[in-house]
Amino acid sequence: MAGRVEGKVALITGAGSGLGRASAIHLAEEGASIIASDLNEITAVETAATINAKWQGAAISAKHDATNENDWKAVLELAQVQFGGLHVLLNNAGISIGGDIESTEFAEWKKLQEIDVDSVFWGCKLALPYMRDSGGGSIINISSTVGILGNPSTLGYGTAKAAVRSMTKSIALHCARHKYNIRCNSVHPTFIKTPLLDRFSEAVGSEKEAYQTLADLIPLGEILETEDVTHGIIYLASEESRMMTGAEFVIDGGLTSGYMPPI
Ligand SMILES: NC(=O)c1ccc[n+]([C@@H]2O[C@H](COP(=O)([O-])OP(=O)(O)OC[C@H]3O[C@@H](n4cnc5c(N)ncnc54)[C@H](O)[C@@H]3O)[C@@H](O)[C@H]2O)c1
Repeated sequence: MAGRVEGKVALITGAGSGLGRASAIHLAEEGASIIASDLNEITAVETAATINAKWQGAAISAKHDATNENDWKAVLELAQVQFGGLHVLLNNAGISIGGDIESTEFAEWKKLQEIDVDSVFWGCKLALPYMRDSGGGSIINISSTVGILGNPSTLGYGTAKAAVRSMTKSIALHCARHKYNIRCNSVHPTFIKTPLLDRFSEAVGSEKEAYQTLADLIPLGEILETEDVTHGIIYLASEESRMMTGAEFVIDGGLTSGYMPPI
């Protein structure tokens, strides 16, 4: 049986860890050719090797700083030369730094905007012509529930993720207006079991305690496995979501639905 994204070429940023790695593997499993890119070249190579061990020749890796315009140009050319184009762009690379309005340093604020927002701007801007030449495709921007909800302790991160949410809608409407056949959606996961939560685990004392503390905030009582998100990414990457653009794909165990009163 053909995979759900059979024949598509997908570029994933931050593919060396966590959600990016899991997405790259899941997209390959569903038939896509993968460019696994990451600032950390070693981990990007590992992701591509994991995929090629199962699906020979399905993946290549690239060292790619997603904030760097020239790195973007190089990785998009790589996609063109190695796989003949680009259909799916997963803007996943990101960092998280906690802090409120009083504790956040300006340098931390700038770093968050650069890595979590500028990277998405460059990716969308520079990938667009490649995706048009490939007959269209799907851009998937990883935001967060903090791009929707307020949180006193994620001032810079939440602001960055809200910017990704808004940027996504603007790009979606631009592409629709020009009939590019390119869709653009944002994904809003709540806490996912990835190394991004390591610092919180260290602060709480153990990973187990940290995951439980966060799970207690979720109406469904659990935080996310990476697969809970990658199933949504496959849907957005595939033709199954052909009428979905500019949307906020929320995967949060009910977190943003409201609050549960004690009785
Ligand atoms: N883990 C969560 O709880 C959670 C929740 C909501 C959203 N997210 C978002 O999911 C995405 C993936 O995060 P994750 O949880 O897998 O984290 P992670 O730390 O496991 O992986 C992030 C990856 O991004 C890479 N990266 C960092 N800066 C980069 C740069 N400038 N250029 C290229 N790559 C860079 C890192 O090397 C790493 O491989 C992020 O956008 C994050 O904000 C995570």
